[in-house]
Amino acid sequence: MTTFRTSQFPVLIVGGTGKTGRRVVDRLTARDIPVRIGSRSASPSFDWENRETWAPALECVSAAYVTYYPDLAVPGAAETVADFARLAITKGVGRLVLLSGRGEPEAQRAEALLQASGADWTIVRASWFMQNFSESMLLDPIRSGTLALPASTVREPFVHTDDIADVVTAALTDDRHIGKLYEVTGPRAMTFAEATAEISRAAGRPIDYATITPEQFMQGLQQAAVPSEIVALVNELFTVVLDGRNEYLTDGVMQALGRAPRDFTDYARETAATGLWRGAA
Ligand SMILES: NC(=O)c1ccc[n+]([C@@H]2O[C@H](COP(=O)([O-])OP(=O)(O)OC[C@H]3O[C@@H](n4cnc5c(N)ncnc54)[C@H](OP(=O)(O)O)[C@@H]3O)[C@@H](O)[C@H]2O)c1
Repeated sequence: MTTFRTSQFPVLIVGGTGKTGRRVVDRLTARDIPVRIGSRSASPSFDWENRETWAPALECVSAAYVTYYPDLAVPGAAETVADFARLAITKGVGRLVLLSGRGEPEAQRAEALLQASGADWTIVRASWFMQNFSESMLLDPIRSGTLALPASTVREPFVHTDDIADVVTAALTDDRHIGKLYEVTGPRAMTFAEATAEISRAAGRPIDYATITPEQFMQGLQQAAVPSEIVALVNELFTVVLDGRNEYLTDGVMQALGRAPRDFTDYARETAATGLWRGAA
C-alpha cells in the first residue's frame, strides 16, 4: 500500500465549503498545504449519494477530513463512512480525520467502524456548533427577531467551529494525533434562551426566545418546505440528543491544542460586529 505525504499531495476536505471544512481549507492553505474540496459543487464533484464520485476525489490524496452530510445520525451513515474509509485505504489514503457528534448512537457507531477500518484515524466528536446561529438554520429566526425551539432548560456547551478547525488541522498535520478521540465542547453550557440573550445583547436589538412543542416545531419546518428527511433529523436532534445527555463539558480542545476553547460571548461579539445579525430587511 502506498501512502502519500501531506506536503506533496492534496488533503481531501469533504464538505470543504461547509462550516468546519472551509475553515480547515483556510488553515491548510495558509500553511501552503495543497487541498482538494470534496463536495457536490467541487471539481471533481464528490457526492455521498453517488459512490462513483468517491474514487476520483480520493485520487493521489495524502489524507482526508471526513464530514458526513447531512448528519452522522442519519440511518446508514455509519456504513457509508466505513465504505468510504475502506476505499480510501485501498487508494493509499491511510490518514482519516472524522468529524462526529456527541450523544448520537449512529455517530458513535460510525466512529467504531472507522477505528476498526485499519486507517490511521483521529476522531473529533463535537458538541453543537456556535455557528448554527450564524451560518445555518438558526440564522433566519435570529434575524427575524424570534427564535422558537423545542428546548427549554436543557443546556448545551456550544463549540466554536474555529476550535474544531484548529483541532482538525493539527490532526491532519501531526502524527501525534493518530489514534486519538477528542471530544470537543465550548467552555460553558448554556440554554438556548441564554445563547439567544447573549446574541441579542451583542447585536444591540431585541431577539426573543420562545419554547415550543416538538409538534409545533415540526409543523413549522414542514410549512417552510424543509425536506422530510431533514425534518426527521432535526426532530431527533432536539427530542433525543438534546435530552440533557450532552450537558457536561469536555477538555478535547485543551488535550489536542494545549489551550482553552473559545467562549460564546466572544463568538457573539465578533459575529455581531460583522452585521450578520442586523434585522431581516
Ligand atoms: N452542526 C452541528 O452543530 C454539528 C455538531 C456536531 C457534529 N456535526 C456533524 O457535522 C457534519 C456536517 O454538518 P454541518 O451541519 O456542519 O454541515 P456543513 O459542513 O456546513 O455542510 C455543508 C457541506 O457539505 C457539502 N455537502 C452537502 N451535501 C453533500 C453531499 N450529498 N455529498 C457531499 N458533500 C455534500 C456542501 O457542499 P455542496 O453543497 O457543494 O455539496 C458543504 O461543503 C455532520 O456529519 C454532523 O453530524 C454537526
